Amino acid sequence: MTVTIRDATPDDEARWRELWKDYLAFYEVTVDETITDSTWRRIFDPASAIFMRVAEVDGKVMGFTLSLTHEGTWIHGKDCYLEDLFVDPAARGRGVGRALMDDLVSLSKKNGWSRLYWHTSEENKTARALYDSYVENDGHIRYRINF
Ligand SMILES: CC(C)(COP(=O)(O)OP(=O)(O)OC[C@H]1O[C@@H](n2cnc3c(N)ncnc32)[C@H](O)[C@@H]1OP(=O)(O)O)[C@@H](O)C(=O)NCCC(=O)NCCS
Repeated sequence: MTVTIRDATPDDEARWRELWKDYLAFYEVTVDETITDSTWRRIFDPASAIFMRVAEVDGKVMGFTLSLTHEGTWIHGKDCYLEDLFVDPAARGRGVGRALMDDLVSLSKKNGWSRLYWHTSEENKTARALYDSYVENDGHIRYRINF
């Protein structure tokens, strides 16, 4: 099995939409189609900080990360926020998720970003096992008001 991590390209649209649908189903959420369209467009918009990396397994896209960089008040460089990580269930347990995480760590170092951070549910034991192998959680809890 060969895993390759690369930037998304416009040709990945149909496959990404399949994976995105499964990702939303995993979270049992509905995201308006116009938001999905906008997310897809922003990945390729130089004015947007959102970027997507995809994992190809033997030539087929089987996972992705969606992240964005932003300024911070405690740092010189940028923060990189990993918002979404997903691996097709058919490819799980074979190192694809770890390869996607390793890729973001490498990109952060290469680009001189100051920090890489993300959130997950306390209950997401699988993701937490992966994340705990990189760093201890920093004990912060999230507050969010939806408008
Ligand atoms: C979390 C997820 C990305 C892991 O992807 P994956 O390709 O299966 O992960 P890997 O094979 O690289 O495994 C990485 C680590 O995850 C953990 N892990 C993977 N599968 C596991 C399982 N079934 N049970 C417990 N831990 C598991 C292990 O710690 C593993 O470490 P190891 O490589 O030392 O064994 C994948 O399960 C997924 O997409 N889940 C649904 C979406 C999700 O939860 N996203 C994260 C939201 S914040």
